[in-house]
Amino acid sequence: MGRLLVSFVVCVPERFDFMKQQAIGVFDSGVGGLTVCRELIRSLPKEQLIYLGDTARVPYGTKSPATVTQYALEAAEFLCQQGVKLLVVACNTASAVALPKLRETFKLPVIGVLEPGARAAIASGDGRIGVVGTEGTINSGSYERALRSIAPEAAVFSAACPLFVPLAEEGWAAHRVARQIAGEYLAPLLAARIDTLVLGCTHYPLLQDAIRAVVGAEVRLVDSAAATAIEVADLLEEADLSADRLLGAQRFFVTDVPTRFKRIGAGFLGAELQSVEQVHIG
Ligand code: DGL
Repeated sequence: MGRLLVSFVVCVPERFDFMKQQAIGVFDSGVGGLTVCRELIRSLPKEQLIYLGDTARVPYGTKSPATVTQYALEAAEFLCQQGVKLLVVACNTASAVALPKLRETFKLPVIGVLEPGARAAIASGDGRIGVVGTEGTINSGSYERALRSIAPEAAVFSAACPLFVPLAEEGWAAHRVARQIAGEYLAPLLAARIDTLVLGCTHYPLLQDAIRAVVGAEVRLVDSAAATAIEVADLLEEADLSADRLLGAQRFFVTDVPTRFKRIGAGFLGAELQSVEQVHIG
């Protein structure tokens, strides 16, 4: 008994210190979650990140909640096997449909992009909130529920914008076509006189200029990637799990050949992707 107590006292601080140096696991259906990585690197430069893009099965945004949940569980399982201290679900669609199941299944903190985005949207504005996202995210009604759970009186107006994802991936964010399409998608939200617009998809921060040109200077744009990075930093601080020395490295994994991910990923991450490994999951 005495020996057990001694080993507990001796081992726990070491384990705790070891956990601080573990990586943050981040996953998305493909390249989009690199916008979340970019913000995490900006807010938490000391941390090590392990990123998985499920490029063999992208897109998630058009698939059923059951399929996306299954994919999300397999992606999270892979990251847990790498020994991460925290999971970031960098995909809005997976956050919208799979978060409860992920939290129930894995015994580590799981942060999605949806709740931080909703909290940031409520933090200012007059409560006339627009939400744009994939079909899966919008059909789930999850943003609406998250917003109303914080501010029951909020008026929420949603629109699925499926063409935004290929536009961002094609590098057409600054093309006049992007502005035209944004005009079509956002017209009903403007008619509803929104004062805040949540960019509820990993790809949409790349289209910010086209969206801004349509909604004008008065509407506040909420980037859920940036809001998530702030919440991850707060959570690590509160749990005393922040890396206490500079690790600052990133490892990138994908489930299909890395060629396209490497080529277009740089625009999402804001930096070249040095090495990307292909893995099989599921
Ligand atoms: N990453 C997805 C999201 O944020 C967009 C791409 C997809 O449909 O898989 O919802």
